Amino acid sequence: MKDLLKTADLSREDVELLLATAARFAEDPFSAKETLANRTVAIYMTKPSTRTRLSSETAVAHLGGTPIFIRGDELQIGRGETIADTARVISGFCAALLIRTYKQSDVDELGANSSIPIINGLTDEDHPTQLLADWVTIREVFGSDVSGRKFVYIGDGNNMAHAWMVMGAILGAHVVVATPTGKWAPKSESIAIARKIAEQTGARVEVEHDPEAAATGASAIYTDVWMSMGDPEEERREKLAALSPYAVTSHLMSLAARDAIFMHCLPAHRGEEVQAEVIDGPQSVIWRQAYHRRTTIQAILYHAFRGELQGR
Ligand code: CP
Ligand code: NVA
Repeated sequence: MKDLLKTADLSREDVELLLATAARFAEDPFSAKETLANRTVAIYMTKPSTRTRLSSETAVAHLGGTPIFIRGDELQIGRGETIADTARVISGFCAALLIRTYKQSDVDELGANSSIPIINGLTDEDHPTQLLADWVTIREVFGSDVSGRKFVYIGDGNNMAHAWMVMGAILGAHVVVATPTGKWAPKSESIAIARKIAEQTGARVEVEHDPEAAATGASAIYTDVWMSMGDPEEERREKLAALSPYAVTSHLMSLAARDAIFMHCLPAHRGEEVQAEVIDGPQSVIWRQAYHRRTTIQAILYHAFRGELQGR
């Protein structure tokens, strides 16, 4: 597999390899500092980013390469140059490209027209690099045998909800997504992909609409912002009202397992999707998740550059 275009591209073996390498890069960030020596990696973003940008630039530097950050409005794509032509040009300069943008189809098109690895750094549909950081963190807390444990995402049925289901399915875990019904439920295509993978791995993927039922007995409760990048501002009031029963409160956390952790990909809005006392409390592992954005992106770049990811 050349690219990491979406979470569902990854095989169980790929994920195990990436999680193990990320753990190694957490111990020693500079253990593979010749990998990208004399090479450049482009990081192209048409949406804002704090963690993914910093992680990517740092990961490239730790692998001995030079990151080139390109804002969305800086390329000729904005003036009508095609994605395919852009992909061919970038392939002539860089060892890899990490892209953050709106449409998943743009990322797929870059992958199809480039000779270098293309890595999805978030689209409207998916966020594969985040999920790797999340699972390194989960394993640091609970170990790699998570049988009998339930991992629950509560909130908007967005890119994070999709990636949560699919990565849980790949890893054979019991994952739950609790969202409003209708407009802010996860896409049925993503549920179908996760359930199909679950048939092969023995995972359990549940889609639920009752936050208290979902939280009960959970080992992890995860949430994300209610207004994602690119969400229409005119829907804000309606959306926040629909999501208000899904706020992660200390009451919701009290229903979870005694050793439960609270997770969030960040950025967070305290007082909206999560209460400050939860996200800033003792069960929260958010800073470890954020730290592992670098270790996991470093692992992806390392193995993708060496052609070591197999894909499904
Ligand atoms: N979690 C995450 O992707 O953060 P950024 O939007 O800051 O990159
Ligand atoms: N769902 C959020 C995730 C941010 C990391 C967004 O797409 O804005």
